[in-house]
Amino acid sequence: MAIEKIIVLEDEAVIRKHLTELLQRKNFLVAQADSVSKAKQLVDKDDFDLIFADVRLPDGHGTEVLEYCQLKATPPLVALMTAYASVESAVECMKGGAFDYLIKPFSDDQVDVLLKKAGEFHQLLKVNQHLSAGGVAEEEHQLLGNSPAIQQLNDLIRKVARTQATVLIQGESGTGKELVSRSIYKNSTRSKQPFITVNCAAIPDNLVESEFFGHEKGAFTGAVSRREGRFELAHGGTILLDEISEISPVVQSKLLRVLQERELERVGGTRTISVDVRVIATTNRDLAQSVERKEFRQDLFFRLNVVPIHVPPLRERPTDIPLLAETFMRRYAKKHGCPVGGFSKASLEALQSHSWPGNIRELQNVVERAVILSGEGALIDPDLLGLTVMSSGKIYIPTNPLAQTSQEAELPATQLKTEMPEVHEQASPSASSVSVAQGDGDILTLGEMEKRHIFATLEAFDQNRTKTAKHLGISIRTLRNKLNEYKASTDSQETPTEDNS
Ligand SMILES: Nc1ncnc2c1ncn2[C@@H]1O[C@H](COP(=O)(O)OP(=O)(O)OP(=O)(O)O)[C@@H](O)[C@H]1O
Ligand SMILES: [Mg+2]
Repeated sequence: MAIEKIIVLEDEAVIRKHLTELLQRKNFLVAQADSVSKAKQLVDKDDFDLIFADVRLPDGHGTEVLEYCQLKATPPLVALMTAYASVESAVECMKGGAFDYLIKPFSDDQVDVLLKKAGEFHQLLKVNQHLSAGGVAEEEHQLLGNSPAIQQLNDLIRKVARTQATVLIQGESGTGKELVSRSIYKNSTRSKQPFITVNCAAIPDNLVESEFFGHEKGAFTGAVSRREGRFELAHGGTILLDEISEISPVVQSKLLRVLQERELERVGGTRTISVDVRVIATTNRDLAQSVERKEFRQDLFFRLNVVPIHVPPLRERPTDIPLLAETFMRRYAKKHGCPVGGFSKASLEALQSHSWPGNIRELQNVVERAVILSGEGALIDPDLLGLTVMSSGKIYIPTNPLAQTSQEAELPATQLKTEMPEVHEQASPSASSVSVAQGDGDILTLGEMEKRHIFATLEAFDQNRTKTAKHLGISIRTLRNKLNEYKASTDSQETPTEDNS
């Protein structure tokens, strides 16, 4: 499926015709050329995936076309066709970048073998282009934890990995959903095939469709060449649809079709392309609720929710915290070259009693900061974690732990800026602490405290959401979702209902 358009460059009419017809019978789009100059014209005009090129041509050498193609952003693969007498020159050509060669006369079966190899190679190239464009930061990560919840999760991952079933991973932000999806992939029979991720929340609405399904040249302004979508890149492998709740209704319906029929058309294209892809989706929203609110298609939800996996929040498995914290401590100590002496007992207690709204990502951030700030070989004390619950009933949100550790002078000013954003310069006392008790003496709910904390942090960062989310250890998307929820609940309170009117 990856190879579509082919040039047959051959001056001997009989061979050219035979090969062309053979390829057309296999549904490839074939253009013919009998000279180097004609082949170059074709290469200029369109994006081809493969060229069968004769070596000796009336106006030159097949290798000239090979060189010419290398000037293109995505050069086609070139297979040279040569007579036995010039095998050596074909080998030279291979060194010059030819993909393969056929010795004349060749059989149809040999062409088949070459096509199969070219198809696999072509996909590999595309996947590599995708990876080097920053698609995936590949680092081996193990799902750490001894709690029953994590053990059950690991069992489920192993069971599900063996199947081809679509998986929907739900859980709060930072709980490890992406890690779970990678673990499923690595334990699956498709582990040697591509793992392609699409962050649905990060792609602008108008580009989502072309990212998913690809586009043909000229499909829209800026579509200067044909491009495969992520589903095509994932062919034979696995696709991760990260933050699936964020896609628009139009794309939802197109996605439904791929999930039902494993078929798609590129944007601006008419040809139906079949894909063999295992789908894993993640979301930090309650998708069933999104369905109820008519924000997410029910049929798509059912298609995705074949095997649901819930990743529990960190506060529900506090026994995992010491292992996670120690592992992260060692990792960051190595990364930053800051040998630390471990956590003090009080620190471990503080870590285990914190509610971790940003889950494991927040824990990572807290540990990384503490490692950087701690003295060489020293124990990490609670004040470096910035999680202290003060006896006055106030949750203390440290704005500048440096001030308390007298290490300020040791850190360069630039690091000070990035690690400890301007909050301490701007925050008023009310913006940097949240009272657990309300004015009337009632204890605040966790949700209410979280809301107040978010608003206080926003205020401290001059409403800058990026800095706020970073400081809170949550994604911008999560912050936006939370603010939307608060807005929705305020709106519904303002709208009189039958009960209170
Ligand atoms: N059980 C775990 N053991 C070790 N590291 C973990 C574990 N769970 C999560 N992490 C780490 O925590 C960080 C956040 O995990 P991940 O990105 O998978 O979360 P997520 O649920 O996808 O978050 P979001 O909803 O914000 O996208 C990653 O660096 C990941 O490696
Ligand atoms: Mg994620």
